[in-house]
Amino acid sequence: MNIEQKVAIVTGAASGLGFATAKMLADNGAVVQIFDVNEENGQKAATEIGGTFHKVDVTSEEQVQQAIDAIMAKHGYLDIAVNCAGIGPPAKVFGRKGVMSLDFFKKIIDINLIGTFNVLRLAVEQMAKNEPTDEHPDRGIVINTASIAAFDGQMGQAAYSASKGAIASMALPIARDLASLNIRINTIAPGLFETPLMQGMPENALASLRQIPEYPKRLGDPSEYAFTVKYMIESAYLNAELIRLDAATRMPAK
Ligand SMILES: NC(=O)c1ccc[n+]([C@@H]2O[C@H](COP(=O)([O-])OP(=O)(O)OC[C@H]3O[C@@H](n4cnc5c(N)ncnc54)[C@H](O)[C@@H]3O)[C@@H](O)[C@H]2O)c1
Repeated sequence: MNIEQKVAIVTGAASGLGFATAKMLADNGAVVQIFDVNEENGQKAATEIGGTFHKVDVTSEEQVQQAIDAIMAKHGYLDIAVNCAGIGPPAKVFGRKGVMSLDFFKKIIDINLIGTFNVLRLAVEQMAKNEPTDEHPDRGIVINTASIAAFDGQMGQAAYSASKGAIASMALPIARDLASLNIRINTIAPGLFETPLMQGMPENALASLRQIPEYPKRLGDPSEYAFTVKYMIESAYLNAELIRLDAATRMPAK
């Protein structure tokens, strides 16, 4: 799929990997729609790239539906959805603070997994209305964000790894469900990226994180994540694929 003039939703685009993706899409001529709970940063991001901000909690059926209805009313079509909204606070199953609360576990599953699926399902409902042509056969594409924690989760990542593992494993059945509609789905599993999340860490902690990737020995730049999104959109034969974007990182136990 070509990016130019496509209507694209990017969730979590007020920050980090989502913002880099929104910027890449805008730079390549897409009509970018930012979905985020952070109104201040979301508005700022939209202004910077010339996109539109929608204050949306991805876990809310109503809010996602309203925002998609607004996009359809204004533009009449939707082609691309990139799910970057997510949270990742750590907690041990049983540690010094006692047993993990079920609410903590549910909240991470709710935002990372159910929020991703909620946006996906309501986006593909609209993508299905696009008319494919011989030259442009795709009706749409969805790109989800897992994590290398889906495969090598560390201590304290039971909830986060469960949410990201499910994002990885649901891709094939979704690709099969959407195949007859000419809609593709791909997944990126990032390693350690230098986003606002990481930039808040003390320099000595950052320095030791930079030693973990095999090569290049540094944190990933969000533009490198966005570059992979671009490749996934443009590469017509790539479907139900998961790319570990991690410089050969294999996370240790802690
Ligand atoms: N940064 C990394 O090293 C890394 C590694 C692996 C996976 N990831 C994943 O990549 C994605 C983006 O991470 P990031 O580092 O850019 O994080 P970030 O914290 O910089 O950005 C996440 C954005 O999601 C938004 N958000 C959170 N909950 C939301 C909700 N319920 N509805 C709508 N928006 C919501 C936040 O407001 C924020 O703008 C996440 O899914 C994260 O798990 C990041």
